[in-house]
This record gives sequence, C-alpha cells and structure tokens, in this order.
Amino acid sequence: MKHLLSISDLDRAEIEDLLTLAAEFSSVLERDIPKVPTLRGRTIATVFFEASTRTRLSFERAAKALSADVMSFAPGTSSVTKGESLKDTVLTLEATGADLFVVRHESVGAAARVAGWVNGPVINGGDGAHQHPTQALLDALTLRQRFGKLDGLKVGIVGDIANSRVARSNIDAFTKLGAQVELIAPSPLLPVDLSAFPVTVSGSLEDSLPHLDVVYLLRVQIERGSGPILPSLAEYGLRFGMNRQRLQMLPADAVVMHPGPINRGVEITADVADDPRSLVLDQVQNGVSTRMAVIFRLLGAS
Ligand code: CP
Repeated sequence: MKHLLSISDLDRAEIEDLLTLAAEFSSVLERDIPKVPTLRGRTIATVFFEASTRTRLSFERAAKALSADVMSFAPGTSSVTKGESLKDTVLTLEATGADLFVVRHESVGAAARVAGWVNGPVINGGDGAHQHPTQALLDALTLRQRFGKLDGLKVGIVGDIANSRVARSNIDAFTKLGAQVELIAPSPLLPVDLSAFPVTVSGSLEDSLPHLDVVYLLRVQIERGSGPILPSLAEYGLRFGMNRQRLQMLPADAVVMHPGPINRGVEITADVADDPRSLVLDQVQNGVSTRMAVIFRLLGAS
C-alpha cells in the first residue's frame, strides 16, 4: 500500500491486517508511557482545508505516539490566503521535511491529486462527499471489539447518505468484512443511483430497528447543501433521529454509532448519545490506534 485514498484500495485481508495492528497499538496507548520509538525522525503533515476535531487531533496524537514529528498546516493562517495553490502548498511542506501527508479537502479527489504531486504517502482524511477511509477502519475496529467480527452483522446507516463520505467508506468496509448494510433515509438524502452499492434500502427507521445489530447515524451535512432539501431539521429528527423510545425498539445487544460531530437533538438525542449502548466515544478513542496502524504501514516501519 503506497497511499490510503479510499477503502477500495484495500481488500479484506489488508483491512483485517490494519485492524489487528490497530488493536496492538490500543495496548500501547494503555501503557504508562503510551509511546513507541518506531518513527523517530519522521515527520507527518496534517493538511486540513476543512474543519476537523477528531480526525486531525487523532492523526497528530497517533504520529506522536509513534515518536514522529508533526507539521500542522492551517490554510487560514497560511499563504493560501495570498493565493498559493494546493500543489505549491504540499510541495512546500515536502521541501520543509514532511514524509507523509494527511489531507482533508472539500473537493472530491483532492487527496489523490496530492498523491500525484508528492513523493511521500498520502492519507485521505476526507474529500468532499467521496471517501473517509480511516473513519471506516476505526468504525470497523469498534465493531470488531464489540462483536468479535463483522460477518453477518446487520448495520443500518441512517440519514444523509447522499452527502456522506463516511457512508461511502463504511458501506465498502463493512460489506468487505461480511456485514449486511441497510440504508435508512428519506429519498432526497439518498444518492440518485444506488446500483453500485451492495445494500438494501428502507424509508422507515422504526421498521428497521428491530432487526439491526448496529444503528449508525450520520450527521446532516448542512455545509454540503442538505439543509434546504429538508422541510426542517426538527422534522428530520422526528422521523429519522434516534431517541429513547426508538432505542428500546433495538435488539437488547444492539449498539448506536455516530462518526461525530453530533447535532444533539437532530440525529440523536442527548440521552441516547450518552447511553451505555452508544459507542461514540469508543469510535473516537479507536481513531488514534487505527491511525497509528495506517501511518505505520505506509511508512514501512518495522
Ligand atoms: N468524524 C470526523 O471526521 O470528525 P471530524 O470532522 O471532527 O474530524
């Protein structure tokens, strides 16, 4: 693996290798000194043209836990404000010493473009509504920890599928690992063409809940235009939000997931977000070890 741009770059064995390595790094992170010297002298650049809390900070924590240095690029305080291009920005970072690039950008394909310009490996930290591969890996790790394996799991992905890079990455990763995925959404939030997706589709959350092992709620992507096509966020929450009453419709050992950031009261009520059956913070925690595993494999460390 030279880059990680999409879950389609990985087959099942490669995904399982990364999850196994991530589980080993989870143990490292529980030590008194949660650090290994593996990447001493290497430098990771986080190049985020879109806002992020979880992805950027967990990549930076992961790099430091591997003893790498971090260059944290923020466009608003950079020469991008003077008109510098994406290409000149990443070439400048590489000339400054970056060995690996984590790229988030609003444009589909931006990380792939960067991979064509720089010599080092590139990790896609989210490109438009296209892909967010490390989110899918950390979600798969979280499910593997809870259920042992994904084979046969019934996962309902709920909400703004049309605009969600998380949905696209997770459908691919979950089905490669043997899960069955159902998309649950109002029709305006579904992609126009679903023929490429190995999924079933439902328009009713309440019909689906009793047969799900996992209900995975997506954030409504207002910034990608979802707001105006819904009557209101309140009405969306009434039909497709997870609340206490709907939690009780799930099988007893089913779990609730959300990639974050959460709009409490829209996709999920505050009491459900904080319920013991919610894995939201397990997902965040697993982001660090998962990203350690990806960085480690891409830099060829041993
Ligand atoms: N899940 C996720 O990508 O969160 P951030 O936007 O905070 O990185």
